[in-house]
Amino acid sequence: MPGISLRAATAHDLPAINAIYNHYVIHSTATYQEEPATAPEREAWYAAHGTEYPVILAERMGEVIGWGSLSRFHARAAYRPTVENSVYVRHDHLARGVGQLLLTDLIARARELGYHSIIAGISADQEPSVRLHAKLGFTQVGLLREVGRKFDRWLDVMYMQKML
Ligand SMILES: CC(C)(COP(=O)(O)OP(=O)(O)OC[C@H]1O[C@@H](n2cnc3c(N)ncnc32)[C@H](O)[C@@H]1OP(=O)(O)O)[C@@H](O)C(=O)NCCC(=O)NCCS
Repeated sequence: MPGISLRAATAHDLPAINAIYNHYVIHSTATYQEEPATAPEREAWYAAHGTEYPVILAERMGEVIGWGSLSRFHARAAYRPTVENSVYVRHDHLARGVGQLLLTDLIARARELGYHSIIAGISADQEPSVRLHAKLGFTQVGLLREVGRKFDRWLDVMYMQKML
């Protein structure tokens, strides 16, 4: 899709980021969160990011149509070389290349920041996400069976990893 640009998110973008995310909270197993994220929660999340853990977004004609982030994989210090990624595309802009643009940019940023690998924890029923990550070089390193339950269904979590 032409006319898409990527940039670092700012605090002004948090309502748009939350709106994109909360659609999936309500309608999808893409996230195991069950209650929409509030504005203060999103502000705290953003404050915990910063230059080491970028938050980026895709824009088209002045509208935010997707976002992605790198986060700490684990709070313990020795996990520092490892990050976890998130990518969410606005539900009315799916399958137009936005997710691939965002994840490609996150991989480049993770390399520049000196991380050693990226982990994606993906609900195994989310085929678009599994396929996107596989396309960009992530491979399955683990499958946790029936660790989630949403919409009255047991859900497996697939861990995919890309060495950088
Ligand atoms: C997963 C997600 C980010 C993909 O973004 P997208 O912009 O729709 O995907 P793209 O158009 O960039 O497609 C890139 C690749 O993803 C895969 N893909 C995307 N949509 C797909 C679909 N409906 N079915 C199967 N594979 C799909 C394909 O491999 C595709 O490459 P191809 O076009 O050469 O086949 C998007 O579906 C999304 O936001 N899902 C909900 C949130 C989520 O699951 N996020 C991931 C959690 S980390």
